[in-house]
Amino acid sequence: MEITTRRMRIRGYQTQDIPTIHQLVEEPEIYRHQIWGPNSLAATTQFVELCITNQRASPRTHFENVVEDLATGEVIGAIGIRIQDQKARKADIGYWICKDRWGEGLATEATRAVLKFGFTQLNLNRVWATASTKNPASIRVLEKAGMLKEGMLRSDLFIRGEYRDSQLLAVLKNEFPFMDEPIKVISK
Ligand SMILES: CC(C)(COP(=O)(O)OP(=O)(O)OC[C@H]1O[C@@H](n2cnc3c(N)ncnc32)[C@H](O)[C@@H]1OP(=O)(O)O)[C@@H](O)C(=O)NCCC(=O)NCCS
Repeated sequence: MEITTRRMRIRGYQTQDIPTIHQLVEEPEIYRHQIWGPNSLAATTQFVELCITNQRASPRTHFENVVEDLATGEVIGAIGIRIQDQKARKADIGYWICKDRWGEGLATEATRAVLKFGFTQLNLNRVWATASTKNPASIRVLEKAGMLKEGMLRSDLFIRGEYRDSQLLAVLKNEFPFMDEPIKVISK
């Protein structure tokens, strides 16, 4: 699948993305709040190859994508939506945007688009995300995409030697405020 928004193209990973993705995720600010990182090239390669394998799964549950700048074709980030429970129709999302493009509203635009894709194309009922309580920018992105805070998960993650609390946020299909957002979805 491929989603086009006003400023970006959100598309599945391809093998040729590996060097670019690896270079972008080497930035410590990108993996600071993640359980992974710093990645070896082998680890990045393994992740991208797994994402490509998942594109062929049936039924498909994991939709991991790169985010391309529509104007230049440059890869500027990544966003994924993963169905975690088929019966309850619920999924989680995660994302990053390269550091020199922070603050332009790109993560918000990508998140709204992927949520709309999840509710309209994957028939989801609930999408949630967690963000470290030390990552206010990500919590803000999730709120701007229509998610509500549901609670704090204490010592949820163990990242590079310390426990981290996570903020849990979620949005339900019937309350998602951006269903009219103009996005174009191409199923391949
Ligand atoms: C989190 C991240 C994706 C945000 O990307 P972005 O494209 O800059 O996000 P947006 O521009 O759409 O929105 C960022 C919002 O956070 C706000 N923000 C940024 N830093 C902040 C801070 N320290 N405290 C509070 N708010 C902050 C911005 O002001 C903006 O809100 P506003 O529009 O109300 O002003 C980006 O910083 C990133 O990739 N971080 C590393 C990876 C990561 O943490 N991923 C999320 C894992 S849960």
